[in-house]
Amino acid sequence: MCGIVGYAGNRNGADIVLAGLRALEYRGYDSAGLVTFTSQKTIEAVKRKGNVDELEKAIKKRKLIGATTLGHTRWATHGEPSETNAHPHTDAAGRVFVVHNGIIENHKELRAYLEARGHVFVSETDTECVAHLIAEFISRGADFESALFSALAKIEGSYAFAIIDRENPDTIYAARLSSPLVIGVGEHENFLASDPSALIESTKRVIYLKDREVATITKSKITTTDLNRRLTPMNIEELEWDLEAAQKGNFPHFMLKEIFEGPEVVRTAMRGRLKKNVLKLGGLDLVRDKLDSMRRLVILACGTSYYAGLVGEYIFEEIAGIPTEVHFASEFRYRNEPFEPGTVALAISQSGETADTLAALKKAKEAKLLTLGLVNVVGSSIARETDAGIYNHAGPEVGVASTKAFLSQLTVLTMMALSLARKKQKINRELMDELQRIPEKIEAVLKQAEAMKRLAAKYSAYENFLFLGRRYNYPVALEGALKLKEISYLHAEGYGAGEMKHGPLAMISPEFPTIAVVPKNSVSEKMYSNIEEIRARKGPVLAIASEGDKKIASIADDVFYIPKTLEPLEPLLAVIPLQLFAYYIGTALGYNVDRPRNLAKSVTVE
Ligand code: F6R
Repeated sequence: MCGIVGYAGNRNGADIVLAGLRALEYRGYDSAGLVTFTSQKTIEAVKRKGNVDELEKAIKKRKLIGATTLGHTRWATHGEPSETNAHPHTDAAGRVFVVHNGIIENHKELRAYLEARGHVFVSETDTECVAHLIAEFISRGADFESALFSALAKIEGSYAFAIIDRENPDTIYAARLSSPLVIGVGEHENFLASDPSALIESTKRVIYLKDREVATITKSKITTTDLNRRLTPMNIEELEWDLEAAQKGNFPHFMLKEIFEGPEVVRTAMRGRLKKNVLKLGGLDLVRDKLDSMRRLVILACGTSYYAGLVGEYIFEEIAGIPTEVHFASEFRYRNEPFEPGTVALAISQSGETADTLAALKKAKEAKLLTLGLVNVVGSSIARETDAGIYNHAGPEVGVASTKAFLSQLTVLTMMALSLARKKQKINRELMDELQRIPEKIEAVLKQAEAMKRLAAKYSAYENFLFLGRRYNYPVALEGALKLKEISYLHAEGYGAGEMKHGPLAMISPEFPTIAVVPKNSVSEKMYSNIEEIRARKGPVLAIASEGDKKIASIADDVFYIPKTLEPLEPLLAVIPLQLFAYYIGTALGYNVDRPRNLAKSVTVE
């Protein structure tokens, strides 16, 4: 995810900002940039695709030494990773320089308005419109600060902005809404960053900017105001983190941090796409006609992304009314199936680089199918290969085992199915409303993490596990088993509960526990019967069940309750306890849960 670092003081700002950007590298990025005032009071910006080393080389070559400086690492959201799309962005006159984290939801409207007013854009980013918008207000006679506040009043979405003005060489302006910014308080110098880990080398005294606050930072003074330019109180806090802890946001592992990002990734996936009952998936607009005549959807993916696809299969069939099938990409690429006209392929991939998924996609293209992508990493190979698609915008996933990407994939698949739905059904409107309540419900599940920790401690004594679910929760059972295998190296199998009698029941014994995903839904009675069959063979059962389910406590040994929701959305809640279960067992057994043995984050080999 993008990172911001700023410096106001007498030292060489480029050195300090580069060090700060390095501290943010763990977040993942694809390009970097910096703007500084030189000793001659001119302003210079340097941007590079690639890593901070590339940026540093370019700065050294130009012997760039300056004081007030802003830097940025970009993780592409709007527009591919490139030097042009890297931050900072500026207006035509090169007066206003902006770096930005977040997404400006109304950037298309702003851009159209500004282009009509003669502003020429050079990048594909949403951020660039901010520099032009401020310049537009200045051109109408406003001073810089008034122009900044007028621009903020017009911007919708989420932002952390750091901005400098060529005519105010000692000052950094910063503003935030739903994207973090923290000011570092120094001696005759001050700092700014999107994450405290970029500040720790320089200072431990910080002020967290609040939503809808604007800060003005020079080397000797910091002020904060609200959006009406009224001063707001500042509270200086002491950072207690070490660098490693700061990068993980005080979580002991990236995996846990990313599980706890669940509510945010679901919100981000919906941001600018779903609000109240209005659903807009701009990424599909170009191919909308072809999608309207689609006769079959073929989903291609691997691992966790494949399990998200399996949930998608139910959603597309039940909600959109589109016949759907899901394939392991590694199998699909070697099949010789006939394709009927109107077949569309959808590749799902967090990394966008998985070799098998890419090869399956190429095969779909050779067969002249329309190809769609559901990808997290912008500009990745799969994103580039597809005809159209939707990005997750879930931010980089550092833990090797996929957690938050799965939630994001489910959210986007639900929105896609709703947007392609062939008939109007009451459930579709209900799903739209309920999806917007899901982040809060995930928060409620996460509040019970300690209870899951205790359950995991109890179950960590076993060596074999069966995970069971039905319908929408069948893929959740598969994903729960995969997570446990990856993180704890214990034997775990996921099954559709109806299949149990056809084989796996033979394994059940007091030494072989079952994790049953059994929310109260159209198949819970069937699930209860399966649990009874396991209990009759003295198999221990941990149930993931709905709040208020009175029966489950009498048939399962342990129960973890999740809030009630609509059946197609249950996986978004039911998978969280299973992710936590795997995490706590893995850590209880002393494994490196962020980097499980033998596994890679991006599987670029077949
Ligand atoms: C499981 C996991 C893998 C990936 C799979 C596909 O936790 O991380 O199973 O889901 O390698 O990766 P992407 O989604 O990047 O194509």
